Amino acid sequence: MCGIIGYIGNKEASKILISGLEKLEYRGYDSAGLAVIDNKENKTSEINRNNNGNKTNNGNKTNNNNNNTLHIFKSKGRVSRLYSAILPGKIGIGHTRWATHGLPADKNSHPFLDEKKEFAVVHNGIIENYLELKEELREQGVQFSSETDSEVIVHLLAKHYSGDVKDAVLKTIRRLKGAYAFCVLKNNSEEIIGARNGSPLVIGLGNNENFFASDVSALVEHTKNVVYLNDFELSRIRHKDVEIFDFNGKKKELKIKKIDWDLEQAQKSGYKHFMLKEIFEQPQVIAESLKLELEIKKIPFLMPKKAEEFENKSLQKIILVACGTASYAGLVGKYLIEKIARIPVINETASEFRYKDPLVSKDDIVIAISQSGETADTLAAIRLAKQRGAKTLGFINVIDSTIAREVDHVIYTRAGLEIGVASTKAFTSQLVCLYLLAFQLAGKKMNSSSLIEKIKETLSLNKEIKELSEQYFNYSNFLYIGRNMNFPLALEGALKLKEISYIHAEAYPAGELKHGPIALVSEETPTLALCPQDEVYDKTLSNIEEIKARKGKVIALATQGDEKIKQVADNIIFIPKTDPIFYPLLSAIPLQLFAYHLADRKECDIDKPRNLAKSVTVE
Ligand code: AGP
Repeated sequence: MCGIIGYIGNKEASKILISGLEKLEYRGYDSAGLAVIDNKENKTSEINRNNNGNKTNNGNKTNNNNNNTLHIFKSKGRVSRLYSAILPGKIGIGHTRWATHGLPADKNSHPFLDEKKEFAVVHNGIIENYLELKEELREQGVQFSSETDSEVIVHLLAKHYSGDVKDAVLKTIRRLKGAYAFCVLKNNSEEIIGARNGSPLVIGLGNNENFFASDVSALVEHTKNVVYLNDFELSRIRHKDVEIFDFNGKKKELKIKKIDWDLEQAQKSGYKHFMLKEIFEQPQVIAESLKLELEIKKIPFLMPKKAEEFENKSLQKIILVACGTASYAGLVGKYLIEKIARIPVINETASEFRYKDPLVSKDDIVIAISQSGETADTLAAIRLAKQRGAKTLGFINVIDSTIAREVDHVIYTRAGLEIGVASTKAFTSQLVCLYLLAFQLAGKKMNSSSLIEKIKETLSLNKEIKELSEQYFNYSNFLYIGRNMNFPLALEGALKLKEISYIHAEAYPAGELKHGPIALVSEETPTLALCPQDEVYDKTLSNIEEIKARKGKVIALATQGDEKIKQVADNIIFIPKTDPIFYPLLSAIPLQLFAYHLADRKECDIDKPRNLAKSVTVE
C-alpha cells in the first residue's frame, strides 16, 4: 500500500521522483522521502525536517573517498513536502508511505539507510518475520533508527554485501518472509536494484534513462514501454540497460509491454476531485464494459450449457472472491446469476475465504473481482483456489496486474484509470461484467438498450443530491437498507459514505430491521432506503413506514412516477424507470453522489481519505 519509485538517467532525479510519487500518493500518504546519489560532492548527508518542514539537523556528514554521495530527505506528511529539499543527483529512489508498522513519523519514513550510510532502501509490503530478523541484527550490534519492519532490509543488505549489490539482494531476500517490492540504491554506484514478491513493481524503459515504480501511472509521462516484474524476480537498471533475474540469479528475458493510455486521462479534467470525474465517466465506462459480451461468451470453461452441468453436479459451484466494494459487486453477481441462470453461487470475502480451509475443488470455478488486481487477500484466495485445482477467472481493471496474470482467464473490466481511493466506475464496470456473465450462463441475450441514457439521466440528479446533502451532512450515523439486490447496494452506499465522509453508516437487509437494528432508529439516525419499484417494493415500503412510526428520517431511492413513496419518505431521490433487473446499476450513482457531496460539504479529503489507500497489497 505504499508507492515506490526509482530513476537513473541524465536528468536531475529529484523532481522526476517527486512527480512520480505524486501519481502514487493514492497508495498511501502518511510520509514521503527520497534518496539521491550526487556524483559531484564528496559527503553523505541525511536531512530530516520537523513537522514545520524545518531542518532538524544538518544530517550526518561523513566524508568518504569516492566521487559519489548519497543524500536522503524524508518527512512525515505529503509528497509535496519533498519539493522543499530538492537533492542534487541523477540517480535516486523515492517512497510515499501507508503506515503498517510504526506511526507516521520522520523516523519511520522511507528511505532507510544502513549504519554506514552506504545503502538506501524503499519498500512496499510487510516483512512478516521482521521481529526475529531485527533481534538477530541487534545481537550483532546493529542500531535501528525506526519502528518499522522495512528497515531490516537495508541492514541485511549491508551485512550481505561483498562487492555486488545484486548478490547482496539475492542473499537478503532468502531471509525475508512476507510481501515486498523494494528498491536499493548503493552509494558510489551507477545502478538501482528492484525486487518483488507479492507487491507490484514495474520497470519503465526510457531513452538513456530507466525507471522503477509501483505502477505505470508514475511512468507514463516518461515512457510507454514497461516491463512488469513477476513475483520472485529482481531487476538491475542502469542508464543504458535493464536486466531481470530470478531469485536464483538466473537471467531472464525482458517482456516489454506498451501502455495504451496517457497522463491526460489521469488528470481531473476540470472536476474538483478524481472521484467526481470518475462518477461522471460511468456512461462511457458502462458502454465500454457492455462491449465485453463477446469476450465473456468465449470464457473457455463457462459456456451457456453450464446450467445443466451444474444440475448434474459435473460442475459444483461458482465462487466469487473479492474485498470491499468489489465484494459488494460480487454479492449483486450472486443474486443475478442465481436468478437469471439458476446456478448456485457463493460470494466470499477474500480475507475470510483464504483462512477458512474453504470447500473448493477442481470442479469449481473461482472468480476474482478486483479493480487493482493487486489486493493481497484476493490474490491469496485465487492462489488457494488454484492449489485446489479450481478453474480461475478474473474480472480485473488494471491491465497486467498480478491477479490478472495469475488467473486462468482474465476479463478486463475497461473502467480505465481509477485514481479516487473510493471505487465508483470500477464498481459499475464490475456489475456490468456480472450481468453479462449471468445472461451468458443462462444462454440468454441481455437487453441493455436505453441503459446508457438512463445512466446519464441518473447523473443529472447531481445538483439535487448536492442540495440534499446540505440537510444531512451534520448527522453522525446513518442506516442503509434494501431488499434482494438492493441490499448489496445498501452495503456499497454505506461503505462509500463511511470511507470518504467518515460518517458512520450501517447497511442491513430491510427485512432484518425488526430483528434488532430498528433500535437504532431515532431522529438522530436517518435511513437511506433503496425502494425502487421492483418485486420487493411493497415490503420495503412497509419497512419505511416502520421507521417513520419511530420518528426516523427516511431518504428513499425510488422510481420516477412513484406516488406512494411520497406519502412516507422525508426526501426522495427518483431514479429513471427501467427493467427492475437493472436498478442496481442505476442506484449505484445516487449513492456515490450522496456520499461525495456529504464528504465535500464536510471538506474531507475525498480522493485520499484518511487511513485508506487505493490498493490494499498487504494483509
Ligand atoms: C472501494 O471504495 C474501497 N476503497 C475498497 O473497498 C476496495 O474496493 C477494496 O479494497 C478492493 O480493492 P480491489 O477492487 O482493487 O481489489
